[in-house]
Amino acid sequence: MRHRPLGRTGLTVSEIGFGCASYWGLSRFDEGEAVRLVHRALDLGITLFDTAPGYSRGEAEPRLGRALRGRNVSGLVVATKVGTFHAGGGRTGRDFSPAAITASVEASLKRLGLERLALVQLHGPAAAELNDDLFAALERLRERGLVAAFGANSFDPEVIAAVIAAPSLDVVMLDYNVLRPERVALIEAAAARGKGVLAGMPLAMGHVDGQIRKVRGLRDLWYAARALKNHREELALAERFAFLRHLEGMSAAQAALAHVLANPHVACAVTGTTRLAHLEANAAASGLVLPDEVRMKIYEAQQG
Ligand SMILES: NC(=O)c1ccc[n+]([C@@H]2O[C@H](COP(=O)([O-])OP(=O)(O)OC[C@H]3O[C@@H](n4cnc5c(N)ncnc54)[C@H](OP(=O)(O)O)[C@@H]3O)[C@@H](O)[C@H]2O)c1
Repeated sequence: MRHRPLGRTGLTVSEIGFGCASYWGLSRFDEGEAVRLVHRALDLGITLFDTAPGYSRGEAEPRLGRALRGRNVSGLVVATKVGTFHAGGGRTGRDFSPAAITASVEASLKRLGLERLALVQLHGPAAAELNDDLFAALERLRERGLVAAFGANSFDPEVIAAVIAAPSLDVVMLDYNVLRPERVALIEAAAARGKGVLAGMPLAMGHVDGQIRKVRGLRDLWYAARALKNHREELALAERFAFLRHLEGMSAAQAALAHVLANPHVACAVTGTTRLAHLEANAAASGLVLPDEVRMKIYEAQQG
């Protein structure tokens, strides 16, 4: 596994990160399997684990805490979020007030069993919520030694631009994958300001691999239902990249990750998975180089 600096945070992260979200975090997904995935990720040299208080109906963060118990966490970047929470019944609540942000970090530390968080990200803030009171609360958490670096996770270009301009924020996590070439300008702007860049959804939720057609169990049905409910546009767009499913020497998912990591400003591609074979394939994408003709075909598919 290769590692890259996370902007100017002083942190170093593995090129492939592990997303502790979605089906992985749900109690209906076997705890033993979920924990084994985290331990295998550690063995493979993965050092960035991304989660949030509200992920997987609030079950992902405490599960990650249990998975890391007894492990050496000193070199890890355990990243969580603030501003959103599980409000019951599968609903997500939002609160970006300074008091809520402070309480959220303190509760996450307990659930994760950590004394300090390497990275805390604002989870989908509105541009207007990025105000001085919020930044002052973040700086107080930094001064208390509870958090090393702050960032924000957004898929909204206007918010991402505001995050890049904010001195208190060191990292931006955005949706960068083969379907999103328009993110390159924002990634370059972030790097020019010394921000670390994390690619969330680097596999476009598995759509590039045609995951939705490979229903083998409950977990696949869950992802298929989510895609049909929320991501029909991405599903259709991903079909332009179907040629990636027939490459020699690499899977579509690996090609998608290699594409994301070909951007030198991306520190880490954060992928979620519930399968050991997928985790191992994703880890093996670190260091893969796409042949020129594949890069050209991706470019052509992106042009429509
Ligand atoms: N999705 C979002 O809206 C969002 C927002 C903010 C941050 N994030 C962060 O980014 C991470 C990744 O997001 P995501 O939406 O891509 O992940 P995700 O929601 O966890 O979904 C990943 C999908 O890709 C499939 N997959 C993973 N590795 C694969 C492989 N090698 N071959 C084929 N299919 C593979 C998974 O299926 P298997 O389980 O079968 O592998 C799953 O269907 C999240 O876990 C989270 O930490 C996501």
